[in-house]
Amino acid sequence: MGRLDDRVIIVTGGAAGIGRAFAGGFVREGAKVVLADINGEQAERSAAELRAEGGEAMALTVDVSDQAQTEMMASETIAGFGKVDGLVNNAAIAIRVKHTRAPLEEIPLDEFDRMLAVNLKGVFLCCRAVLPAMKERGYGKIVNISSGTFFNGRENLVHYVASKGGVIAFTRVLARETGDAGVRVNSIAPGLTASETEEHDIEEFAARVPNRAIKRIEMPEDLVGAGIFFMSAESDFISGQTLVVDGGVAVH
Ligand SMILES: NC(=O)c1ccc[n+]([C@@H]2O[C@H](COP(=O)([O-])OP(=O)(O)OC[C@H]3O[C@@H](n4cnc5c(N)ncnc54)[C@H](O)[C@@H]3O)[C@@H](O)[C@H]2O)c1
Repeated sequence: MGRLDDRVIIVTGGAAGIGRAFAGGFVREGAKVVLADINGEQAERSAAELRAEGGEAMALTVDVSDQAQTEMMASETIAGFGKVDGLVNNAAIAIRVKHTRAPLEEIPLDEFDRMLAVNLKGVFLCCRAVLPAMKERGYGKIVNISSGTFFNGRENLVHYVASKGGVIAFTRVLARETGDAGVRVNSIAPGLTASETEEHDIEEFAARVPNRAIKRIEMPEDLVGAGIFFMSAESDFISGQTLVVDGGVAVH
């Protein structure tokens, strides 16, 4: 018996990094997962890995900033697995998608727009796409991935950090709007996580370690327990919250 037996969960940006770790954890707990990612080839490779381990997994090529593609994501999930119980809004311009790290004056306007379109409007669109089906069944679990940068105001990333602050605000509103419909909406704020060590010097991750209560590099697997908790019945009376999973940098 797994904690997520027969649950159907969409993980956006599930092809790689933290999203891939969530998908693996959900499958280990008995869920069927949909990896919805703009990188469809990588999503298919990851879904095939999960199926090879005995799990049920489907890959979809989805740009979360495109309304029609998010609607297709919801309808294909229901066509393939019969329902949608959970959605993890994890896709973002974060590590794998290149972006400018610079003072405000140097951030290109079109990049600011794209950051908000993927990281915030993408959350809005994916929720809109799945909510009708969740409300119809009176059940749904939504987890929005924010970032610890919201708490510490990481410099040279105003577009990213603003988008992630928006995710927390969005979570609070949607939790209130959907509580009576049986939908729970929460957020997870990871610390700097080594989701792609090839492109990022491991020293950048190591540099954050002294600020932590738990002094080691954060890995994608460190976030999976929080994801399973929010997807499981154990969190049924929790909504509108943000759980910081950063090894104790931001201490509330
Ligand atoms: N890695 C970190 O240090 C860190 C820290 C705090 C928060 N986060 C958040 O965690 C989440 C996952 O981060 P990660 O490190 O795994 O990032 P990543 O860049 O490794 O993976 C993101 C995934 O999202 C996909 N994606 C990008 N744009 C998309 C779009 N428009 N539509 C659909 N899919 C798209 C990518 O193809 C990729 O598979 C993000 O929301 C990120 O902001 C990461």
